[in-house]
Amino acid sequence: MSTSKTQALDRAFGHPQGFLGHLGGLLMAWGNAATEHRLVEVARLTPEETALVVGPGPGVGLKAAAEQAGRVVGVDPSEEMLALSRHRCGDGVELRKGTAAETGEADDAVDVVLSVNNVQLWENRPAALAELFRVLRPGGRLLLSAHEKWLPVTRHELADEAAAAGFTDLQTWTWQPPGLGTLAAQLRARKPA
Ligand SMILES: C[S@@+](CC[C@H](N)C(=O)[O-])C[C@H]1O[C@@H](n2cnc3c(N)ncnc32)[C@H](O)[C@@H]1O
Repeated sequence: MSTSKTQALDRAFGHPQGFLGHLGGLLMAWGNAATEHRLVEVARLTPEETALVVGPGPGVGLKAAAEQAGRVVGVDPSEEMLALSRHRCGDGVELRKGTAAETGEADDAVDVVLSVNNVQLWENRPAALAELFRVLRPGGRLLLSAHEKWLPVTRHELADEAAAAGFTDLQTWTWQPPGLGTLAAQLRARKPA
């Protein structure tokens, strides 16, 4: 793929900015909705829990999480995506500029971390996994999903990386979204209690 096409795709989906980012956000809200809902379903959030959504983009999963968990925080580096998430979720969620490696949460502050189509964008996966481990309370759950074809490592290697960060009870599987969506690689893990 040419450099200009790669840059345009990054502006639309990876690091959404400006008009292309806004358009990308609308497309992601449509194309990734089933996966976002699926991961929230797998998480089995309860009203007593706090959920951190990393890279919520246009906020579909963030809104679904806010319908179940007591406190929901979304962290994304893109101003455009934070604005779309705010528009979709209203005041029911906390939104903050940040990244997987720098969430701005306190130690042991969240019960569940959810992240869809994000892992492939983490510049430093060990640092991001260490950060998510830090902010989860003991016994807290990590749930990741990504288009399998875009993952830079296999889902089993990703599980090994999560184990190296301290996570236990690792499980990975694939899930086919309905319609035209591409196969999702998903991972569940726990911070030891
Ligand atoms: C491909 S979109 C996915 C959005 C949404 N979760 C979905 O599946 O439709 C990637 C999102 O991750 C954000 N992002 C990029 N780099 C990130 C990082 N290092 N940590 C957290 N989020 C990041 C982007 O701003 C964008 O909102």
